[in-house]
Amino acid sequence: MINYQEKNILVVGGSSGIGLSLVKFLNENNARVYVISRTIPDDFPAGVKHLQADITGDLDAVVAFLPEHLHGLVYSVGSINLKPFNRLTANDFLNDYQLNVLGAVRMIQLSLKQLKNAGGASVVLISSVAARTGLPFHASISAAKSAIEGLALSLAAELAAQQIRVNVVAPSLTDTTLAQNLLNSPEKREASAKRHPLARYGQPEDVSQAIAFLLSDCSSWITGQVIRVDGGLSNLKTS
Ligand SMILES: NC(=O)c1ccc[n+]([C@@H]2O[C@H](COP(=O)([O-])OP(=O)(O)OC[C@H]3O[C@@H](n4cnc5c(N)ncnc54)[C@H](OP(=O)(O)O)[C@@H]3O)[C@@H](O)[C@H]2O)c1
Repeated sequence: MINYQEKNILVVGGSSGIGLSLVKFLNENNARVYVISRTIPDDFPAGVKHLQADITGDLDAVVAFLPEHLHGLVYSVGSINLKPFNRLTANDFLNDYQLNVLGAVRMIQLSLKQLKNAGGASVVLISSVAARTGLPFHASISAAKSAIEGLALSLAAELAAQQIRVNVVAPSLTDTTLAQNLLNSPEKREASAKRHPLARYGQPEDVSQAIAFLLSDCSSWITGQVIRVDGGLSNLKTS
């Protein structure tokens, strides 16, 4: 069993879905967990420190909120903005980029000193199956998530000398609030499950367990990688 004792881990977007699943797991396994989000859910675990903030707004309070040593940072904020290409506006592209990419950039910059202080740290960003698999109506989110993968690769190289690892998890459709519109009928759920070689869509734990591994010392020689947690969708052709 992996233990996160003595590890301080920040989960940005830890109030719902994949992030909340991760927060619960880390908290149960003795990590000291810090969460930033706009709201707190009813089932938020006691003992987890929370800062209410909108990642697109004023982040002045973040530095005082962070511990001196930060061993892990996960950016689990994002969007699923699916539209035919001719209906996507410049603002759609800018908003997806701001939330998915610039939000992660701002959080990493604000935490860099604390990550360096830890003497060994892990940053995990979240992409999407749509970054490397061509899917219709995904032009804006695919562009933003591809940027996340590029950002992670460059940062992994730049920060390796400081023992800061940077990796990405790229999920396919996962049953969270964000994906509600894609899974809100039995027909949609069945069709979505069938699209995946493993014949199901994801649960938040499928993704959060991969992130938990990347945060742990079990992955201490892994950096600059994208782990595709997608039921086989991106790489397999089964029929
Ligand atoms: N679900 C999927 O099918 C799927 C597929 C591929 C990739 N992903 C990626 O996985 C990641 C997690 O998504 P999820 O499905 O777990 O979504 P989710 O359940 O909607 O969780 C998103 C989290 O981000 C926070 N958040 C959103 N906007 C924010 C803002 N402006 N400022 C601060 N916090 C904000 C939310 O908290 P508050 O609302 O309380 O602020 C929540 O904690 C995202 O990067 C998403 O793009 C998801």
